[in-house]
Amino acid sequence: MKKFGIIGPGAVGTAIAYALNQSGHNVALFGRSNSTVLFQEYNHSAQHEFTVHALQDAHEQVDILFIAVKTTQLDSIIPYLNNVIHSNSVIILTQNGYGQLQKINHPYKYHAVVYISGQKDKNSVTHFRDWTLKLPINNNTLNLQAVTQDSLLNIECLEDYPEHVWYKLIVNLGINTVTALTRQPAVVLKSNEVKTLCYNLLVEGKRVAEAENIHFDDDLEESIMKIYEGYPDDMGTSMYYDMMNARPLETQYIQGYIYNLSQKHQLSTPYIESTYAILSTF
Ligand SMILES: NC(=O)c1ccc[n+]([C@@H]2O[C@H](COP(=O)([O-])OP(=O)(O)OC[C@H]3O[C@@H](n4cnc5c(N)ncnc54)[C@H](OP(=O)(O)O)[C@@H]3O)[C@@H](O)[C@H]2O)c1
Repeated sequence: MKKFGIIGPGAVGTAIAYALNQSGHNVALFGRSNSTVLFQEYNHSAQHEFTVHALQDAHEQVDILFIAVKTTQLDSIIPYLNNVIHSNSVIILTQNGYGQLQKINHPYKYHAVVYISGQKDKNSVTHFRDWTLKLPINNNTLNLQAVTQDSLLNIECLEDYPEHVWYKLIVNLGINTVTALTRQPAVVLKSNEVKTLCYNLLVEGKRVAEAENIHFDDDLEESIMKIYEGYPDDMGTSMYYDMMNARPLETQYIQGYIYNLSQKHQLSTPYIESTYAILSTF
């Protein structure tokens, strides 16, 4: 039986622990210190308690490790990775943004495009919706899909993985940027000026993707704006909540990743450039 580990007992990490635990898998959850975390489904009263083991003191090696800390916290866990992996472990990085996988020195590492939505408040995690992790297709990810097929987790192994990476990057580029900068949740799109800014960010994001040989339908921007329009007015984004709680922002690997490629391809992306400049100051 495969042994699973998860570093980061937050919204995404605890949801993965719950999903695997529900179907009887052997799961260890690692955090900053020995503690517990409570998990519950949105609109359900049942709470599930998980034990969290201090990563620094851990010495059990897992076969499949999910890393579910924020991009801004990745550096702090890297020195302890060898506490919990062996030479053949498979590492799945479950973070927004892209480009941070190169920080991990291990042969079997894959960056998931994360569609698991939840929020952590103190030691309680509420899961809102979705259980999907999108991964590049290879023997290791297919094996992960096979061993988790009886669980709530939905592992997708995709030939067109780079398109999915870029789609999520562009979706995050628009709504995360405008909600974080204005310090307002999705209601901010009711302002025509902000809506236009958001649309222009999507146009530029698509231009950068095209320079990277990733091609989307002509109506990508319209279809993403339609998705945003379906968001409840009071819905925040991860970057909005980080901004409101004065936590470090994941700018470097979302807007920063796109901005750096725009520079590399010598594109003109003034909306990305100016909003990235401001976001980088937080
Ligand atoms: N939440 C969502 O709906 C969602 C959706 C899609 C993608 N994502 C992405 O998924 C990633 C994780 O987000 P999240 O919302 O799950 O974040 P989160 O709720 O803040 O969870 C991160 C967890 O990592 C822990 N941690 C931080 N530093 C650590 C360390 N040095 N050692 C051990 N544990 C440490 C944190 O502990 P403390 O609480 O003590 O800091 C926290 O429990 C982010 O890249 C995010 O953008 C999130």
